[in-house]
Amino acid sequence: MHTTEQLQQILDTAIQNLKFPDHPKQLYDPITYIINLGGKRVRPLLVLMATELFGGDANHSVHAAMAIEVFHNFTLVHDDIMDNAPLRRGQATVHEKWSTNVAILSGDVMMVEANKNLAKVNPIFLKNVLDTFNATAQGVCEGQQLDMEFEGRDDVSIDEYINMIRLKTAVLLGGALKLGAIIAGASEKDANLIYQFGENIGIAFQLQDDILDVYADPEKFGKQVGGDIIANKKTFLLLKAFELAEGETRASLDTWTAYKEFNAQEKVEMVRQVYDTLDIQEIAKESMNYYRNKALAVFSQINVSDERKANLLTLTEQLMAREY
Ligand code: IPE
Ligand code: IPE
Ligand code: MG
Ligand code: MG
Ligand code: MG
Repeated sequence: MHTTEQLQQILDTAIQNLKFPDHPKQLYDPITYIINLGGKRVRPLLVLMATELFGGDANHSVHAAMAIEVFHNFTLVHDDIMDNAPLRRGQATVHEKWSTNVAILSGDVMMVEANKNLAKVNPIFLKNVLDTFNATAQGVCEGQQLDMEFEGRDDVSIDEYINMIRLKTAVLLGGALKLGAIIAGASEKDANLIYQFGENIGIAFQLQDDILDVYADPEKFGKQVGGDIIANKKTFLLLKAFELAEGETRASLDTWTAYKEFNAQEKVEMVRQVYDTLDIQEIAKESMNYYRNKALAVFSQINVSDERKANLLTLTEQLMAREY
């Protein structure tokens, strides 16, 4: 069994060894660009950790880990077009640096590259691996569609929101863990338990992402702070604020979310003030904690020694406390 540092070393090497064609440059340069910007690389780490949780060797799931990270980067490139985001990992987004058309097509070919990595997985697991990967990828698309539809709706419920983030974000964390479990030869029951663990962690992870979008230190965050407020994203924070705001606070929220034209900085400042008045950040953290605890309850049902579970538990706590 490897330490987390060793697993990260395995991932770094594998990422450096990812090779893409040279031509056409505008198709492939954005892939190298976005991947080399780094990021936390949580999802491929989850693949490797799940493999070792169930007694496998992380080296056997490296290709699946690469597939997941390349796929994740593809979703970010397209997500940044949809969200009109200028910054990713502290640098210009692909569509800003090149163009929207380049970002669309580079993203498309990243999905193909993800599949090419997946095809390198041991053939005895391949059917199961492909089914899991495809279900995950489809879920992400469904979640992204709902996320966009919700921007234009004002009757989104918290339940609908949770289902949306389950799809756009959590299924990928669950799917990453399940792939790792499958490649370790885990039982179907265990593979499903680790998937459920990942889904609940993933919901908490996206709640944290929504909090950070409002409250992160811009220096550390690497993304535009306030982007969700500018776009009227139906985040947990905004939905809760609509639920709780009364009087002047409610009037301010109604006004600022209704403006078609506004000064972006001013809108972010004003909506953040509403959140502060209502203590929304604290309420969002309570919800995060609820899903974290749900995840841990599922995790405890997995019949594996505490020693094998330690890495994933530590990573979970680190994710819940992340600042970017
Ligand atoms: C960003 O994911 C997209 C979300 C699901 C919130 P990460 O926060 O894992 O981004 P990187 O890969 O570390 O940059
Ligand atoms: C992330 O949602 C979901 C996917 C990228 C699939 P966000 O739009 O909140 O992610 P960030 O904040 O841009 O990373
Ligand atoms: Mg988005
Ligand atoms: Mg986004
Ligand atoms: Mg976000």
